[in-house]
Amino acid sequence: MTGPVRLGILGAGRILRRFLPGSERTGAVDVVAIASRNAERASAVAARHGIPTTHASYEALLADPAIDAVYIAVPNSLHHAWTMRALATGKHVLCEKPYSTNAAEVDEAHDFAEAARLVLTEGFMWRHGPHATSFAEELPRIGELRTIRSTFTFVIGSDDDIRLNRELAGGSLMDVGTYCVSASRLLAGREPIAALGVAWPAVSGVDERFNGILDFGDGMVATLTSGFRSEHSSIEAIGSDGSLRLDDPFAGRATKLIGSDGFEVAIPQVDPYELELDDFAAAIRGEHPVRLGRTDMLGQARALAALYESAATGRRVAV
Ligand SMILES: NC(=O)c1ccc[n+]([C@@H]2O[C@H](COP(=O)([O-])OP(=O)(O)OC[C@H]3O[C@@H](n4cnc5c(N)ncnc54)[C@H](OP(=O)(O)O)[C@@H]3O)[C@@H](O)[C@H]2O)c1
Repeated sequence: MTGPVRLGILGAGRILRRFLPGSERTGAVDVVAIASRNAERASAVAARHGIPTTHASYEALLADPAIDAVYIAVPNSLHHAWTMRALATGKHVLCEKPYSTNAAEVDEAHDFAEAARLVLTEGFMWRHGPHATSFAEELPRIGELRTIRSTFTFVIGSDDDIRLNRELAGGSLMDVGTYCVSASRLLAGREPIAALGVAWPAVSGVDERFNGILDFGDGMVATLTSGFRSEHSSIEAIGSDGSLRLDDPFAGRATKLIGSDGFEVAIPQVDPYELELDDFAAAIRGEHPVRLGRTDMLGQARALAALYESAATGRRVAV
């Protein structure tokens, strides 16, 4: 493929306020269409961002031959179904996180994508920035890694939010704890062997707060906290020779990595959505595989599933 990837968007939700500025910065994609269940919403977003085509349904966008790839930005429970439909129409897929808690769904989608020579990736934009890569690179400074502590909480604005909706696969672990799982797996450099979880339910039944432990074996453990009733975001890695800490790591706003020995690394300011799209487009052009492909998506799904199973049963669950 030559020229920018022609991207269509499924869903006109709030994430677009962050995603579309990133898509406007990169030359790797052109957002050429958006589909919404609500024509006015699609038109309003299209007008604000100069998107030339609106579609009145997701199906219509998928049938549009002038689109190479789609960004799926719908509630969590719909990610896999719309990914399969998009792949079936020959579109490459960037699907928002969390893709699924079901490893079989991840495999099904990747089996299909591979057979059709299509690219599929999960939208963990934070993994594309220097905040994630610097942290992983500097880890040897703290000796043998023993503990990873990560927290991602924010105050939810409305009881109507999809994040509090059980049918739509809401929940704090799904929404923000999934970043902590991603950070733990990245820094551990391997997959956990077991999980323990405790969930505090909201009125709707989803976990409004979640505390988890991922056991990576050989004495390395990650603890994670997610929630909808306080504001905090950080990752700390504790090793035999010291510790490293990054505040506000997940949204591309982190400014410095701080070591317990006074060491500091400045983190360049980037737009993680732009970098995510650069990675996706380069994979579509065949330059390299996506950063977050089948293996990473399976690791995420399995860890999330084990944490939820542990919270439901009160038992330690093998991953
Ligand atoms: N990577 C990140 O930084 C990041 C940040 C925030 C959210 N996300 C992810 O992005 C996805 C969307 O989150 P959001 O904050 O944009 O949510 P949102 O504002 O509630 O938007 C979700 C959109 O999904 C569409 N949708 C389709 N079926 C729906 C249904 N049955 N009920 C409700 N909405 C439905 C709607 O679009 P139309 O009505 O226009 O069709 C709606 O606007 C989630 O998976 C979330 O985890 C990622």
